[in-house]
Amino acid sequence: MDNKVNPADVPKKKLATGEAIPAVGLGTFGSDKYSPQQVSDAVYGAILRGYRLIDCASVYQNENRIGEVLQKVFAESDIKREELFITSKVWNDRHREVTAACEKSLEDLKLDYIDLYFVHWPFPNYHAPGCSGDSRNPDSKPFSIEEFMDTWRQCEKLVKQGKVRYIGMSNMTIPKLEAVLPLCEIKPVALEMECHPGFQQPELFDYAVSHGIQPIGYCPIGSPSRPERDRTSGDIADTQMDEIVEIAKAHNVHPAIVCLKWAVQRGQIPIPFSVKEPQYVSNLKCVTEDPLTEEEMDKIRKADKNCRLIKGQVFLWEGASGWEDLWDLDGKITGLK
Ligand SMILES: NC(=O)c1ccc[n+]([C@@H]2O[C@H](COP(=O)([O-])OP(=O)(O)OC[C@H]3O[C@@H](n4cnc5c(N)ncnc54)[C@H](OP(=O)(O)O)[C@@H]3O)[C@@H](O)[C@H]2O)c1
Repeated sequence: MDNKVNPADVPKKKLATGEAIPAVGLGTFGSDKYSPQQVSDAVYGAILRGYRLIDCASVYQNENRIGEVLQKVFAESDIKREELFITSKVWNDRHREVTAACEKSLEDLKLDYIDLYFVHWPFPNYHAPGCSGDSRNPDSKPFSIEEFMDTWRQCEKLVKQGKVRYIGMSNMTIPKLEAVLPLCEIKPVALEMECHPGFQQPELFDYAVSHGIQPIGYCPIGSPSRPERDRTSGDIADTQMDEIVEIAKAHNVHPAIVCLKWAVQRGQIPIPFSVKEPQYVSNLKCVTEDPLTEEEMDKIRKADKNCRLIKGQVFLWEGASGWEDLWDLDGKITGLK
């Protein structure tokens, strides 16, 4: 197969334990646009073409199909389970029953263990998949250290039981991490966070790295196919930013590729999504060749627009003033009792 990347050529990032994992993974959120079949076909194709890190979640509603293609990969190729690094995440409505949630993901993915299991959002605030941006759940609450730690203790138990190898957090802020990290018996090895040229989160990135936590960057291309509920009029498209377009022209690549080269060279693990073979192959291949120059890296660093795309407004609780409340912008945990 010509359109194949040797996994050995893909750069690696070291977790705090010393284990090396691929510096690029495949996202699997179909954005309410791509079916479970399309996404699982892409997972199958992507693994055969060199991907070894796959970012899953129960709320993406496709883990059962992904489980089927993982079985197909093991049956039809010489790729072994231990060569893959599979993540999954506990959804907000199962923070009080993490073991059952993880067991369901294991059953769907048809795996004996998950490599990295995330708390998807730090709130137990449920919204139905595919809901509109203005829908609110009357039971939603602000962040609670006690409740989060109860969820985390259940995640720690999963590690001790061997159901997951590592645990991680997602959609956290520095004030929340400051509050919970000292309480963790088992520390998170990774932090999944929104990260792309127009939203670089330098403080959170540096905080994670300085605490031995590997940043995993979601929406690395600026999620051009994201659902309507995650779009607002002021959003900036990364692939149309002048700096990105100019650097893409200099390298003769699509602007999406510049976003991914930048991500890996900066130090996060991007998890680009695509169901299109030429796209997902080039998204992996691009980090094995023709790196950005230091000047180009610096130009992108300076182009940060602090433009959050996944604002999370559907998770807001009654009395919250706006999506900013989810992100503790004034340095304190908003709404903490
Ligand atoms: N932890 C969390 O809360 C969280 C939140 C959001 C996402 N995630 C994870 O992060 C993953 C990635 O985020 P995302 O899917 O929202 O956004 P993304 O990876 O930034 O964008 C994906 C879209 O970019 C386009 N694209 C991909 N490769 C391309 C290429 N080489 N050239 C041109 N266009 C390209 C495709 O658009 P077309 O489909 O139009 O071709 C694709 O649908 C998700 O799938 C999910 O696994 C996690």
